Amino acid sequence: MLTFHRLCVRTTFSARLLKTTGRTEHASGRHWSHSAGRCSPTCRALVYERHGEPTQVVQLKNMDLPPLGSKDVQVKILAAPVNPSDINMIQGTYAILPDLPAVGGNEGVAEVVEVGDRVTSVKVGDWVIPKDAGLGTWRTDAVLSEDDVVSLPNTIPLLSAATLGVNPCTAYRMLSDFEDLKAGDTVIQNAANSGVGQAVIQLAAARGVNTVNVIRDRPEFTHLSDRLKAMGATHVIKEEELRQPALKELFKTCPKPKLALNGVGGRSATELLRHLQRGGSMVTYGGMSKQPVTVPVSAPIFKDVKIRGFWVPQWKRAHSNDGAAFKAMLDDLCSLIKEGKLSAPACSQISFLDHSAALAAAMTPFTSTKQVLVM
Ligand SMILES: NC(=O)c1ccc[n+]([C@@H]2O[C@H](COP(=O)([O-])OP(=O)(O)OC[C@H]3O[C@@H](n4cnc5c(N)ncnc54)[C@H](OP(=O)(O)O)[C@@H]3O)[C@@H](O)[C@H]2O)c1
Repeated sequence: MLTFHRLCVRTTFSARLLKTTGRTEHASGRHWSHSAGRCSPTCRALVYERHGEPTQVVQLKNMDLPPLGSKDVQVKILAAPVNPSDINMIQGTYAILPDLPAVGGNEGVAEVVEVGDRVTSVKVGDWVIPKDAGLGTWRTDAVLSEDDVVSLPNTIPLLSAATLGVNPCTAYRMLSDFEDLKAGDTVIQNAANSGVGQAVIQLAAARGVNTVNVIRDRPEFTHLSDRLKAMGATHVIKEEELRQPALKELFKTCPKPKLALNGVGGRSATELLRHLQRGGSMVTYGGMSKQPVTVPVSAPIFKDVKIRGFWVPQWKRAHSNDGAAFKAMLDDLCSLIKEGKLSAPACSQISFLDHSAALAAAMTPFTSTKQVLVM
């Protein structure tokens, strides 16, 4: 919470920063405002001044950038996704909320364009991503503390970099920290076509772990199922099939799951639980259906299943001491990207200026692609 507040203080703007003045576009692509004969760099940002429906409250604004301190980096944001947590923050329903007005967006990739004279961990030209939530990434440029970012190789695809810090990290931790998964074991998950779900499929496949992937039915089910199988999904089934006796046949081809990953809640979560093997774990990380998780008493009594939860900002904060665990995870993920074993989720790249379309698409059911703002 403390870190989040600190980040917001640095990156959400004050009334002073909101001031828009005669703006000139320089050949470098950076913008400058002129006031009282002084020139200061500005950026454009997607800002909300009150909580509400994202398409209504998010507006494009010009903002002055603060001066570059000796431990600061100036970055040009290249691309930033629209995640459900970004939407929930704007709606005012997320667990952590910035002071208002705030800039939207919690992840994305940026290129370092200038560094303060005491910066040691990054250099001009490096790609960086936020270490924590709350940075306000839906903007063209920012001045950030060196400590708020971590570098990535700028040789990985842009969309992989822009979407690496939240969903693949969540998938990685959930596959690593709850059950001792070995090649041949099985994981079952709902919302399997989500950003998290697609990362789970690929990371599990890279470890030889089977995945049973549950998605909602739709006219293009076969197309989506084929896409997930091409990523490494072992089985793709519809929500309705979770409740059908025929699923017993599926578990003759792979062991019952040790781990269930729940991003939906409600009945879907209860059904996942029913298929867990004795002593297995269900980890809830999202609640897309907005329905509570109901646990039949038989699950903990007769099957000794463990009901757990995971939240990646909390993990990052708990491991922020020297950042070594986070860096090691990012290195691992980037190696998998370079080996062709981990790709970005299916994305729709949308111009930063078309933010309303991106926000609307991100909130539309069955969209099946991650909306990524390209600055
Ligand atoms: N705990 C953590 O650390 C953590 C980290 C990352 C993400 N999350 C959470 O994980 C969830 C997924 O995030 P994401 O970025 O991966 O999502 P995403 O790529 O935007 O995809 C959204 C997913 O939710 C599904 N969905 C939407 N409404 C639904 C409903 N009413 N019932 C069932 N499924 C529904 C969509 O399925 P359709 O295609 O059928 O619409 C899609 O699979 C979100 O709740 C997010 O906040 C948590």
